[in-house]
Amino acid sequence: MTEPDIKKGLAGVVVDTTAISKVNPETNSLLYRGYPVQELAATQSFEAVAYLLWNGELPTPEELAAFRLTERQHRALSPVVKDAIDRLPLDSHPMDEVRTAVSVIGAIETAGIANVLDAVGTPEENQERSLTLFAALPAIVSYGQRRRRGLEPVEPRDDLDYAANFLWLTFGEEPDPVVVDAFNRSMILYAEHSFNASTFTARVITSTLSDLYSAVVGAIGALKGPLHGGANEAVMHIFDEIGTADRVEGWLDAALAEKRKIMGFGHRVYKRGDSRVPTMKAALDSLVAHYDKPAVGELYDKLESEFVGRKGIYPNLDYPSGPAYNLIGFDTLTFTPLFVAARITGWTAHIIEQQASNALIRPLSLYDGPDERHIDEYEPDT
Ligand code: ACO
Repeated sequence: MTEPDIKKGLAGVVVDTTAISKVNPETNSLLYRGYPVQELAATQSFEAVAYLLWNGELPTPEELAAFRLTERQHRALSPVVKDAIDRLPLDSHPMDEVRTAVSVIGAIETAGIANVLDAVGTPEENQERSLTLFAALPAIVSYGQRRRRGLEPVEPRDDLDYAANFLWLTFGEEPDPVVVDAFNRSMILYAEHSFNASTFTARVITSTLSDLYSAVVGAIGALKGPLHGGANEAVMHIFDEIGTADRVEGWLDAALAEKRKIMGFGHRVYKRGDSRVPTMKAALDSLVAHYDKPAVGELYDKLESEFVGRKGIYPNLDYPSGPAYNLIGFDTLTFTPLFVAARITGWTAHIIEQQASNALIRPLSLYDGPDERHIDEYEPDT
């Protein structure tokens, strides 16, 4: 019998089609529903991009206005979710807080469904569930950061767009347009990326006909890991460790001698640079200028040129977004929850797509454990 060809980590395996996004490492491009992500980030609001991912087309002005109205109606943190977060230890990781909050929302929203076959929901129900989660996440994420800082929560503002309201909820101040713009772009860049680990997790869970909330909770768990979304937090720990640009070379010598992975560099699909980085780097540059923090830019450039020069491994999106979120004032542990708030759009678009042409995802494994043996042959070690 020929040995099966094992694709460890599913590297290079095409498991299904998708009409949501196209990643092309050859041309270093990323398209959402056909549009280059750079063009979307330069011209659109995050709400319009969410609409595009879910509906396949950009909204007309009327459609966008109606979408925004619904989004604004679901921004407030529900008392049950607030209570659930308050019961967690103050030093719980914010990703655990967000995962718990989504799980609580799911339990409430699917309460009363007596037959497990009905939990999956119709496409219309799942569009609605997606929009309410999208609208609620800024309040959940910002509540966590304010709680850790000993601050009272701030009520959402329905005169502000998504990105400006998110910053308002977190900092309780009217945000500067430069900051809103950089933040809006980061949300768009993080929104969707085909069959990445967390999206695939959501699709695996969906393929069992489980509900959308369970799929999102699983996706949050997958995103937390530092090989995936947790890298934006990990990048900031590295920046803090290094301190200043003049310390990069010595730090890198030691890190590479210890065979450490340098967070924010490398990608499973892009081997010659991540298509999203130039747009996010431009957003970071605008923040460096706005906050007058040239040392951040110097450290960024020095670590990038040293690491790329030595290893030929390029930065991914988490590399510029880490220091950008730090400059805006987010706590380092809040960075990956920001990724959740953005990727909820892509995850839910994939959940709905998976439901539309479902096949249970169940791969095979090659057994390499002990040969068959029997209990009556068992002799305990004495
Ligand atoms: N630092 C040091 N070495 C690295 C790095 C890195 N960041 N990335 C890859 N390498 C090395 C590996 O050690 C390996 O070397 P070897 O062949 O000598 O063993 C080689 O490059 C190939 O790397 P793999 O890990 O096999 O590549 P893979 O495609 O499986 O991994 C991954 C991609 C997980 C992203 C990897 O590059 C990594 O761990 N990067 C750091 C974490 C990170 O930034 N994750 C964010 C991903 S993007 C996102 O979520 C937005």
